[in-house]
Amino acid sequence: MSTIYLDHSATTPVDPRVLQAMIPYFTEIYGNASSAHYFGRSAENAIEEARETIAAVLKCKPKEIIFTSGGSESDNLAIRGAAWSARQQGKGTHLITTPIEHGAVGKTIDQLAALQGFERTVLPVDQYGFVSLEDFRKACKPGTTLASIMYANNEIGTIQPISELAAIAHEHGALFHTDAVQAAGQLSLDVNELNVDLLSISGHKFYGPKGVGALYIRDGVDITPAQTGGSHERGLRAGTQNTPLIVGLAEALKLAYEELETRTAHYKKVRDQLIGGIIANIPNARLTGHGSKRLPAHASFVFENIQSGALIHLLDDEGIAASAASACKTGSPDPSSVLLALGYSRELAACTLRLTVGTQTKRQDVEFTVKTLVSVVKGLTVQPTVVAQPVLA
Ligand SMILES: Cc1ncc(COP(=O)(O)O)c(C=O)c1O
Repeated sequence: MSTIYLDHSATTPVDPRVLQAMIPYFTEIYGNASSAHYFGRSAENAIEEARETIAAVLKCKPKEIIFTSGGSESDNLAIRGAAWSARQQGKGTHLITTPIEHGAVGKTIDQLAALQGFERTVLPVDQYGFVSLEDFRKACKPGTTLASIMYANNEIGTIQPISELAAIAHEHGALFHTDAVQAAGQLSLDVNELNVDLLSISGHKFYGPKGVGALYIRDGVDITPAQTGGSHERGLRAGTQNTPLIVGLAEALKLAYEELETRTAHYKKVRDQLIGGIIANIPNARLTGHGSKRLPAHASFVFENIQSGALIHLLDDEGIAASAASACKTGSPDPSSVLLALGYSRELAACTLRLTVGTQTKRQDVEFTVKTLVSVVKGLTVQPTVVAQPVLA
């Protein structure tokens, strides 16, 4: 059975060109980048070249890029590192975030508050998931040291006004971190335009390998390492660098931005076809997130009275790989905390479907998906029992 993969926000396949670039670093240039001999120096050169490639996309200095094991680690390092350092310097302990962050941000800040006495403000979001600039301004105060607000949301695709938010943080002397894990490969990552101090990316969201990511740390921003040991990555992230994965991360990012225009034009075309087909043919479907200020590859819905778990399993049976916004492997998902924060009821927030397109998604895939979804939803819709009404005299 052929499978249609519509879960590119969860992960993407590795681009064959990326794989080719990585292979020699598993088999031939396998030295430890910290070793002084030829093998080590060759690995080190490849890592420094990868750093330059990534810096060119982010429009920053190579030394401002730190390699990590992925988006989660980049978020953890940015937040813990900046919060600890600011506290150590007596700058304050107040952190600001939103209720719709990925757990790598949300739970990290929760833990800093619960175990280490940091103060935390969680800003409200509107029905599309936007943070208000005014609310953010009001939340900033003396002692605010870091705000972490995601560039684009993984469940609803909403894109935040990052440069404006960062400007407000800077007016108050606070640092600004953004989780750009979902935005990378779809939106500009120019850190000067974005005005951010810290930015996280992860290779497997843009046709690179899993288990590798990067954190941009603006020159002059002080970070306390969260993982201690050797002096790798300027002493900010101990551990022997994973040369092949780092090479793959850089190659994938380079290709994504060389091909950004064609890729995003394609994403939007098939994504809009998908949204149009679903909204026109399924009466109980509603788009979640914003109509236009959303990631080009991202479509997300709620289906009234249709539990995500059942929907995902039935689509899977038909060869369509989709995901719910919430964990749904058991078939009885918890409501999505993101949708609850947007003001959805618990019932609707458990009826989510996320479809995210990729470079290989074809028009025929979308047509088949819409057709299949129409019949699956029809099958799952409980028909209301018609009760005869008494005739009133
Ligand atoms: C917005 C966001 N941040 C962070 C992560 C975590 O990235 P990684 O899987 O590389 O740890 C994800 C992964 O889905 C994500 O969507």
